This record gives sequence, C-alpha cells and structure tokens, in this order.
Amino acid sequence: MAQYDVIVIGSGPGGYVAAIRCAQLGLKTACVEGRETLGGTCLNVGCIPSKALLHASHQLHEAEHNFAKMGLKGKAPSVDWKQMLSYKDDVIGQNTKGIEFLFKKNKIDWLKGWGSIPAAGKVKVGDDVHDAKNIIIASGSEASSLPGIEIDEKVVVTSTGALELPKIPKKMIVIGAGVIGLELGSVYSRLGTEVQVIEFLDTITPGMDGEVQKTFQKLLQKQGLKFTLGAAVQKVDASKSKAKVTYKLRKDDSEHDMDADVVLVATGRRPYTDGLGLDALGIEMSQRGQIKTDGHWQTNVKGIYAIGDCIDGPMLAHKAEDEGMACAEVIAGKAGHVNYGVIPGVIYTHPEVANVGQTEEQLKEAGRNYKVGKFSFMGNGRAKANFAADGFVKILADKDTDRILGAHIIGPMAGDLIHEICVAMEFGASAEDLALTCHAHPTYSEAVREAALACGDGAIHM
Ligand code: NAI
Repeated sequence: MAQYDVIVIGSGPGGYVAAIRCAQLGLKTACVEGRETLGGTCLNVGCIPSKALLHASHQLHEAEHNFAKMGLKGKAPSVDWKQMLSYKDDVIGQNTKGIEFLFKKNKIDWLKGWGSIPAAGKVKVGDDVHDAKNIIIASGSEASSLPGIEIDEKVVVTSTGALELPKIPKKMIVIGAGVIGLELGSVYSRLGTEVQVIEFLDTITPGMDGEVQKTFQKLLQKQGLKFTLGAAVQKVDASKSKAKVTYKLRKDDSEHDMDADVVLVATGRRPYTDGLGLDALGIEMSQRGQIKTDGHWQTNVKGIYAIGDCIDGPMLAHKAEDEGMACAEVIAGKAGHVNYGVIPGVIYTHPEVANVGQTEEQLKEAGRNYKVGKFSFMGNGRAKANFAADGFVKILADKDTDRILGAHIIGPMAGDLIHEICVAMEFGASAEDLALTCHAHPTYSEAVREAALACGDGAIHM
C-alpha cells in the first residue's frame, strides 16, 4: 500500500481543505470518504442544499410580496417542488464535483470507503491498510435527537430528510429554534407550510445578542412562523403520514400536544466518531463526545490530529476550514493559527443574521466598559429601495480604547457585511477606523459605517 505523509479522514469543509493545503505544502496526501460524493454534510446535506432552497423560496416570497409594488404585474409563480429539488441536487452536484476536480488538480488520492485507525500511523479502508506519518480526523457531526423521538426521515426528520421531502407539508412542527430550525422553517413557511416552532428556552437562537433575538423573532412572526417558547418536547408519536408532538410548558409543567404532517428535529448536532477505533487507540474524549486536542489540533496520540465538528468549538464549516488549513501548516512545520475570537456566525434567513465577537450580554457579565453604536437599515437608502429596511447594525466597542469587541447585524446581506468587521477586528481596529473609511454610496455597507460613527460623535442618517 502507498505511504502517505498525511491521510485525512472525512472530506467535509474541514477535511477537504486540510487535504488541499497539505498537498499545496508538498505533503503526499490522501483523503478517506465513504459517501459517494466528496464534501461531507455541508455540501451534500447541509449548508449548500439548504441555501439553494432558501434562495428559491425567497424568490417566490419576493414575487408574491414585492413585485407588484415595483410595477411588475402578473401572477406569482406556482411551485414545482420536483423541479426545485432537482435544482438543489444540481447545485450539490456542481459543488461536490468541484472538490473532486480540486483533489485531482492537487494530486490527492481519494480512498473510497469508511476509514478506521487500527494503530497510530495506519488507516484502514475496506480491506486495505495504508501507512500515514500523520492522520487528521475530520469526521464531522451528526444530528442528535431527543429521547422519546424516533427519526424515520419521512414524517419525523432531521435536516437531511427535510431537504428531500416528497411533498411540501401542510403543517410542520420544528423542534428547536436554532440555526437549522429557523433556516428550514423559513423555507417551508415561504412555500406555504404552516410552521410551528417549539423551543425549550425562552428565547430563539440561544447565545445570540438579546436585541437581535427579539427583532429576529418579531420579523419571523411577521412572516408567519409561530413560536412556542419555554417548552420541553417530551415525545413524538408518529404514524405513516402524521405525528403528534407532546411538550411540557416549563412555567407551569402543563402538558400539551400538537399535530403536524412533518416534524423537523433540530435540537443540535453531536460529534460523529463511530467506527474510527478511537477507544482502542486510547484517544482522549471530552464528556460531550468531542475528541480532545492540544493547541496544535494534535490528540494525546502523537501524529493523530482532529479538526472541525468532532472537536471543541462552534460547529461551523468555516471554523473547520480554518482549522484544516492551520493543522496542515503545523504538520508541514509552519505556524498554523486560528483566531477563535473572530469567527463569524450567520443565519441565512431573510433578513440574514450575522455576528462576530462578543455579545452585549457577555460584555456585561465580564464587567467590561463598552459603548454601543447602532444604525437601523431604515436610514439606508439602498435597503429602502430594495424592500430590505428591516433590521440594524450594532457595533460594540471598548469605551476607553474604542477597539471593536463585537458586532451584530440583522438585515440584508448581513452574512457578507459582517466580514468588514471581522477584518477590522483581526487588525485590532477601533470603531473610528471603520467610521473614517470611505464607504461607497448607495450600499448596505454604509449601515456598518454609520453604526461605527454612532460609537463616536453620532450617525449621520439617523
Ligand atoms: P442549535 O444548537 O443551533 O439549536 C438547537 C435548539 O434546540 C436550541 O435552541 C435548544 O434550546 C433547542 N432544544 C433542545 N432540546 C429541546 C427540547 N427538548 N425541546 C425544545 N427545544 C429543544 O442546533 P441546530 O439548529 O440543530 O444546528 C446544529 C449545528 O449546526 C449548530 O452548531 C449550528 O451552528 C450548525 N449549523 C450552522 C448553520 C449556519 O452556520 N448557517 C446552518 C445549519 C447548522
């Protein structure tokens, strides 16, 4: 069998990026993947397909709600669900084939099958055992359900099943008001499904800036999503075409139930490390089932590294990618680095929600002396012209030094706008640095500058 410098297990955004960077750095590299296509959860059943459905359903929303206002008359398009799914599958295909092309270009061997590690320096795929000086585990995560809920991916589904339902349901119950629940809940709501979200906590999107949470919930409610908060789901009884969800309201312990055609379970994900043989290797794991690593992504077994969703930190494709690049650099003898303080988070609903750095609640808890600069998209000409004036930009900066500590955006293209602030934070910029940077008019980005101005002498258009 071939001898490799590095074998990466898993070809999701963490794994494939690590493999490409290893190859670019001159290391003989292979990547093990058991799916029929490369790209992992993100490309096959996660980020990319959900964005295709979000895009298509948003276009429908625009046609139904805004076209006539602009003088574009005529009936709103009807939905051909089969065609929408095939568009989504086509997008997946283009992306997964793209990774295959990049592997060929970088001379990375794709070892097809599910990998395990029989010993340090060895990776088994099928009946073949390959030698590798270094192994990077990038095995990702899987949906975690709740006790009392059996997933059949037809009536009771995870995000995977929700991306290929045979028909658009009349009523859907979403368990969990986190990222997956709200993105996919939005898709179906726009397609005409009655969407009811049941959430354990008293707010949606736990951990997000409180003001953003409130505005976000209001906007989603305006779009038709319904919320039952402070409710712990107890069980789901499903038949072939219906399901009954039983939940308890936490405030008074009263039990209730609700029926739907489809139940989406979106209560989080857990690391996926099954079948790798980590126990036998003595690899240390955390109580939450994550692989423990040191500051250089190395496990307690020399030469075995781990990155992405299967280790600590936010389960985000771009966090995994950054770790993949940095881990490859460490293996190649360079100084790989990830700044965990500047990892953006984005929810791709409409409007989008994006954040980076600290929330106001975190700053309060830490007793930091901070100031807030806020600007509403109502004061942004471009947003008004595009029916996208809901939401705001909020920048948090140190009161004494003016250094940017965090930013929270709910509004048009928030997921793109946030990166200006990420770069600023990487350079240790002050709010004034952003405020003094000329921003083209008319752009959504002007709202970011105005929020930065609001940290100082005041925004102009508010
Ligand atoms: P999540 O952790 O974002 O949200 C799960 C929600 O379920 C929480 O609000 C939690 O309080 C609630 N919950 C838990 N048990 C419950 C119960 N018994 N009854 C009612 N509610 C309950 O998890 P989610 O949305 O499943 O996403 C999983 C991971 O995937 C996250 O780490 C997320 O960051 C990542 N992801 C990221 C995306 C993005 O960046 N746009 C898109 C999709 C997923």
